[in-house]
Amino acid sequence: MIPGEIIQQITERSDIVDIISGYTSLKRSGRSATGLCPFHNEKTPSFHVSPDKQVYHCFGCGAGGSVINFIMQAENLTFIDAVKFLGERAGINIPEDNSYDDRLTKQRQRLLEANKAAARFFYDVLLSEDGRKAREYLISRGLSSETITRFGLGFAPESWDRLTKHLKGLGFSDYEIMDSGLVTQRQDKRSYYDRFRNRVMFPIFDVRGNVIAFGGRVMDDSKPKYLNSSDTKVFDKSSNLFALNLARKSDNKVLIMVEGYMDVITLHQYGVTAAVASLGTALTENHARLLKRYADEVVLCYDSDEAGRNAAKRGLEILSSGGVKTRVITLEGAKDPDEYCKKFGVDAFLRAISGAKTPLLYKIGLLKAKYDINSPDEKVEFLNEAARELAKMYNPVEREIYIKEVCAMCDVSEKSLAANVNKAMSANKKTEERKDKNEILKDLKQRSVISGSGGMIYQNEKKLVNLMFYDYEAFRFIIENYDINEMTDAFLKEVALKILKMRENTKTDPKEIELISSFPPEEAGKIADILSFELHFENKTAGAGQIINSLNAAIRKQKLAQLGKSGDLEKIKELLEQKKQNEE
Ligand code: UTP
Ligand code: MN
Repeated sequence: MIPGEIIQQITERSDIVDIISGYTSLKRSGRSATGLCPFHNEKTPSFHVSPDKQVYHCFGCGAGGSVINFIMQAENLTFIDAVKFLGERAGINIPEDNSYDDRLTKQRQRLLEANKAAARFFYDVLLSEDGRKAREYLISRGLSSETITRFGLGFAPESWDRLTKHLKGLGFSDYEIMDSGLVTQRQDKRSYYDRFRNRVMFPIFDVRGNVIAFGGRVMDDSKPKYLNSSDTKVFDKSSNLFALNLARKSDNKVLIMVEGYMDVITLHQYGVTAAVASLGTALTENHARLLKRYADEVVLCYDSDEAGRNAAKRGLEILSSGGVKTRVITLEGAKDPDEYCKKFGVDAFLRAISGAKTPLLYKIGLLKAKYDINSPDEKVEFLNEAARELAKMYNPVEREIYIKEVCAMCDVSEKSLAANVNKAMSANKKTEERKDKNEILKDLKQRSVISGSGGMIYQNEKKLVNLMFYDYEAFRFIIENYDINEMTDAFLKEVALKILKMRENTKTDPKEIELISSFPPEEAGKIADILSFELHFENKTAGAGQIINSLNAAIRKQKLAQLGKSGDLEKIKELLEQKKQNEE
């Protein structure tokens, strides 16, 4: 990671026309410079460079981006090396050490400080008179005061602005507070109020021990039971785990994944410090990567209800495909690990952990529970289903071992089950081939109908994104009159949302380089394509209105076309009616 400020400085000192002129000769024409594309063979120039925007774009091969992308492509360098290359040329020194690897940008640093201050505040309130009820609640849940301190638990008072006022008093700005995830913004996006009120607070730490967010629990049965900080620049719930900062310090290389904050805390209090939990979301690939770094093996120990079983099944799949060795336990006689330990003691829990099942045996166990294998018919069905599961194992040795296990379970010969497994394997292969084909066909169809890059819809969406980037007034108009989330082209939508974010954080116009470098380099060409034209409206806001109208018309037309095929007369009438009203 090279700090953003340095990248900015380097691009500012590397004039794109200057640099590209070293690779192909450019001719000035109006506000841009054109030449033969250095990246593909051509006789007439379709390569354009804009000195104002500091981007290049080739209409022939689609190449494009900032000066950094150009160097990456022309010199065949990685992003970092291209920045270094330009840095050298511009006489800007980039330190060789990794000191900036951990150096957070100022903004992130401030967010962490705000979260830390909030944690301190919640903790102080918990210990004050206002926190009496919350203290009693935590004690009634069996937590000791050491545990409360160890997890930094706190209490958010019943107030719309006590935290906010406190943070302001410490010098945090409105923007910093709004970015912190600790407040809820009002519709006008300018004012806000404390997000957490009358809730017991559970700080969430990253692995380095920074407070990055909070979960807050009500003390009665009201809903929602838990509220979490919204995602921020320092918090992404799909890539953090509760208590991993503590669990990674335990010698145990087997981590125990549970569902709830309370499960984790109780387990730690019982000395099981290998317990972690996700943050109210299903496990993701990011979690898998994180776990892989800190654990040799993960034991999933979810709630014993239907939801918990399903979460375990999905979790298994995510973790296994992320290369994490995983086992599963199902607790009997208690709804979750918290209750289990209190009821049967921690030793019983640890015994259950050591008897955890491998993913396949777990799944087969779930299947077996569905059938009565004393009845011959159901036994056959169970074996067929089991064969389908076994067929998913690629390793023949493992497959054989498990076939033996299953046969022992219900007393049949290995030969017959093995034959079933083989049959299921060849069936799988066929469906997979068919699926691939269908995917491709579907994809092609969607592209040409909905977002074909020549299509009206795509073109208009592209114009909107261009305006959002270049004109603040038009930007405001667009977000107020058009739902960006409805954009049909996924990439344009992503770019639009990024612009929305950029404009929310600052009042100055965003820079091309910022947008381009917030996407992977291979997308640079597509972004340059969005930025490289200029819309000549006398009034940009009115222009945005026109575009939105044409866009809606194109969408209606497309819907009509689709409905025409399906023959739903009622819907067609409705759309035609809308169209008429719009034209009036
Ligand atoms: P649980 O309802 O099992 O909570 O939800 P718990 O932690 O065991 O709490 P107690 O014992 O009832 O007090 C499991 C997890 O799901 C997330 C939280 O992370 C919670 O710890 N969750 C649950 C939410 O994010 N929002 C909710 O409304 C409920
Ligand atoms: Mn629970």
